[in-house]
Amino acid sequence: MAPPPALRLLALTLALLLSPAASLSIGVNYGTLADNLPPPTQVAAFLKERTFIDRVKLFDSNPDLIRAFAGTGISVMITAPNGDIPSLAKLPGAQAWVAAHVAPFYPATNISLIAVGNEIMATGDRFLIAHLVPAMRSLSAALVQAGFPKIRVSTPHSLGILSASEPPSSSRFRRGYDRAVFAPMLDFHRKTKSPFVVNPYPYFGYNPRTLNYALFKPNRGVFDPVTKINYTNMFDAQLDAVYTAMKKLGYGDVEIAVGETGWPTAAEPGQAGVSVEDAATFNGNLIRNVNSGEGTPLMPHRMFETYIFALFNENLKPGPIAERNWGLFRPDLTPVYNVGLMKTPLGVSACLSGIDHYLRFSMPRVVVFS
Ligand SMILES: *[C@@H]1O[C@H](CO)[C@@H](O)[C@H](O)[C@H]1NC(C)=O
Ligand SMILES: *[C@@H]1O[C@H](CO)[C@@H](O)[C@H](O)[C@H]1NC(C)=O
Repeated sequence: MAPPPALRLLALTLALLLSPAASLSIGVNYGTLADNLPPPTQVAAFLKERTFIDRVKLFDSNPDLIRAFAGTGISVMITAPNGDIPSLAKLPGAQAWVAAHVAPFYPATNISLIAVGNEIMATGDRFLIAHLVPAMRSLSAALVQAGFPKIRVSTPHSLGILSASEPPSSSRFRRGYDRAVFAPMLDFHRKTKSPFVVNPYPYFGYNPRTLNYALFKPNRGVFDPVTKINYTNMFDAQLDAVYTAMKKLGYGDVEIAVGETGWPTAAEPGQAGVSVEDAATFNGNLIRNVNSGEGTPLMPHRMFETYIFALFNENLKPGPIAERNWGLFRPDLTPVYNVGLMKTPLGVSACLSGIDHYLRFSMPRVVVFS
């Protein structure tokens, strides 16, 4: 006998309420340019026990932070500072780095990726840029030698690496760097099965007219006349621009990860599109987008390991007001807004009390035990 409609509705409701949460996976950038943050061990325990956040990205290799995640299973991306790149480019330097910054903590801390510097291409520093791919190669070799072959190596890029990105079909890497740096780098990623890490920020690309497009809200879309794709959100368009540049060099198969993206809750007075609600809209839709399994128009069904910027507001960051207001959580670990990241007993009990209400008031009308 088919279940009564009310039971089917109940099952569907339960599936809808519980299944996205059960499979949710998202990372955060854990920046610490602040003087009011809780101790790292408290942060790690909070993330593990109370949230669906299963990855963190650190901007350095601070031993206290790395150690804090020991035994949590949370996967951790650490960063080798820009200044270490020249010495990392030689194997002995890379071996020493692994011995000092990885071996003491791994595998207790689930270090899953090492970023070699941060947005090095955007620095324009020719010396660092020349040493970047050699540093990635020797660090990877040193990790394998040390017995840590699962730890991947990459380096995050701003979208400034593209000379054009709109429409996505026109995208390419900046001339001069394409064959000299990106081809060997993408070859490294292909051989080591590590992701090309990019930091796409619709926040830095929108204007009041394209706000809905940037926030994944209903909008007229942006049509790419070459591919005939009608993009309905800027994040997908940015990822497809990166993919197009990679594909033009022959590396469309290399995995892509999102090292940073996000939306601030405050900016200069009068800036349209910046509020707690807008940040919640962007990050909520982002989490849905990257967990949907749909991929992008040019990369259907591909998944992108994604790290939201950022875990906390960082009150000591210089620059415009927005720089200090990217956080998902306050220093007391309460969420700044709700984007479904909390495994709250509250959420579950609210859901259960809804079902309980449903059972008590609706069930007597159907025959359940027959
Ligand atoms: C470490 O993180 C990876 C994801 O990057 C995950 O697949 C794996 O299960 C984690 N390991 C442990 C021991 O929790
Ligand atoms: C693109 O999609 C939007 C939203 O679905 C729609 O309103 C718009 O008409 C579409 N534009 C084109 C050129 O297909």
